[in-house]
Order: sequence, then structure tokens, then C-alpha cells
Amino acid sequence: MSEIKVEQFPVKLETEKHLKYLKELNNHQDELEYWLTEALRLNGIYWGVTAACILKHPEIYDFKEMTKFILSCQNEDGGFGGCTDHDSHLLYTLSAIQVLVICDTLSEVDKDKVVEYVSKLQNPDGSFSGDEWGEVDTRFSYCALSCLKMLHRLDAVDVPKAVEYIKKCMNFDGGFGSIESAESHSGQIFCCVGALAIVDRLDVVDADKLGWWLAERQLPNGGLNGRPEKLEDVCYSWWVLSSLSIIDRIHWINKEKLINFILSCQDADTGGFSDRPGDMVDVFHTLFGVTGLSLLGYPNLDKIDPVYCMPVSAIERLNIKTRTYNQI
Ligand code: FPP
Ligand code: ZN
Repeated sequence: MSEIKVEQFPVKLETEKHLKYLKELNNHQDELEYWLTEALRLNGIYWGVTAACILKHPEIYDFKEMTKFILSCQNEDGGFGGCTDHDSHLLYTLSAIQVLVICDTLSEVDKDKVVEYVSKLQNPDGSFSGDEWGEVDTRFSYCALSCLKMLHRLDAVDVPKAVEYIKKCMNFDGGFGSIESAESHSGQIFCCVGALAIVDRLDVVDADKLGWWLAERQLPNGGLNGRPEKLEDVCYSWWVLSSLSIIDRIHWINKEKLINFILSCQDADTGGFSDRPGDMVDVFHTLFGVTGLSLLGYPNLDKIDPVYCMPVSAIERLNIKTRTYNQI
């Protein structure tokens, strides 16, 4: 595969601007939006710190402060809320574990309590609920299995049953939906393929059929959509590409066209990425713009692990990676 060079593209990656944007995310406490997103604070920290790592400047954040905040979000039930004093949910529990792994401070958390929280959310059919209220979604299967793998405690749940449930969510087109009989969606495909990779059961996937469906997500402007007939969106650079990478079909995408699309979603003044050119930037799309570029082999970026959506260096420290994925 030919090496990607910065000069190939009319627009360059605004690394300095993005780092400034990421560093200043916490300085907007006088703005309404900061408080409206309070419930997602823990997710936001994960999105920001992962993007900073891939841009090779994790030091823009204070890992000690971050760890302190994360630990303050753990509840009596062992799970984590999106902010201090918020109810536990698997979505925040995964972000908490991911940030602690990145900060290398996992030893500071009560792991047994986290394992207890996660394992109690498995249902008799193998699926996982997101929290005590019971909503089931393949996103939660991924969150639970990723958390437990990072804690080296997959033994705490019924893995064959979890796989059986994910298999039931597989569709005739090779993709996966949020629950049984739900239509294929690239975000859910990332969750299902990632979960299967975590438990070393990628044999369940029809890689050619799924790879074809995923490759068809690329639109004439180079961007990727999440489902047929939908608009392109930078976050699908992640959901689609990571899935293709896990099943070794990332070369089925036109990488130059996709890099051009991702770069066109940057705001060169404020830093950050938006879902598509000209929209407002946010930290979620900034993470997936940067991780998409990393998977595509754009220069001067650290490597991202396609299964865990975390820096490869952090995953290597945990010693849990089962195989090497082609980055293109
Ligand atoms: C699309 O969401 C994305 C998904 C459904 C996947 C979400 C995955 C997780 C929460 C697992 C954890 C993720 C990581 C990266 C570790 P959307 O609501 O934007 O979908 P839409 O485009 O259809 O609106
Ligand atoms: Zn999006």
C-alpha cells in the first residue's frame, strides 16, 4: 500500500488548532452548552483525551485531575455516572475504565465493584441492559465485554451466551442492528464486530458480505454514511473504518477521497471537527475525525486500536490485544 503524504491533499491537518480546541474545552463553564452536556461529562473526557493522545499531545490534560474526577463518578453499585452524583450506566462505566487505562491509574479503582455492576446487567438470553431500567442494545454488549476484558475479568459473564445474542442481531446483509430484527447500522456493526473481536469469535462474521455493505457506505464526495440513503458524517469514518479494519477489509475504501472529506470537516479557525463541512464542531466528531485519519495512515498521528478505540500504546500496556490489525 502506498504511503500517505501530507502534500497529497489541498488541506492539511490543523494539529495545533485542534489541540488548542481540546485543551480549552473545560474553559467554557460560563456557557449554557457546558451545563447542558453535564450528563455526558465522562464521555467527553474520554473523547477529548483519546483525541489528544492520537494527536501525540496527551500532556494538554492533567491525568491526576482527570483520574480524581473519574473516581468521583463511581457509585455505590460499582458503576459510573456521566458526572458526579449521576446514576450509573454502562456507557459511562466504559468511558471511565477507558480513561483510567489511558491515565495508567486503573489500580486506583475498586475493580471488583465494577465487575459486579457490569456482570449483573447480563440477561438470561446473553444480551446486556444499559442500566437498572433494562433497555437492551448491542451497544451495551460491547461496553460490557470491553470493560471486562480491560479488567481481565471476562470470566464474570457468560461469554458464549453473549455471542449467541449478538449472532441473533446479525442481518441477511451481513450487518448488525441494535436488537434482534433491527436494521443494520454502522455504529451497531462496530459494537458487534468489536465485541466479537474482544472474545475472539470473529468466525461468526461473514467478512466479505459485511465488508461489501460497509464499503458501499462511501459516497461520491468521499465521506461515509451509517446506513443506505443517509448523509455522510465524520463519525462514520470511525464506525465504518474500524469495522473494516477489524475484518481486514479497510483497503476496500478509497482512502484519499475519505481523507479529503475528513480534512474538509475541520474548522481551521477554532479547531475541532464537525459532522460535515460548515457545521458546528464538537469533541465527539473531533475524536472520530482524528481516529479516522489515524486508521487511514495519515502522517504524524499515533495509532488507534480499532477494537477498543484507544491508543494502541495503552492497549499494549494492558497486554490484552489478540492480533494485529492492518491500518492500511
Ligand atoms: C451512531 O450513533 C453510533 C452508534 C450507534 C455506536 C455507539 C457505540 C458505543 C456507544 C460504544 C462505545 C464507543 C466507543 C468509540 C468506545 P448516532 O446516534 O450518532 O446514530 P445516527 O447517526 O443514526 O444518529
Ligand atoms: Zn456523527
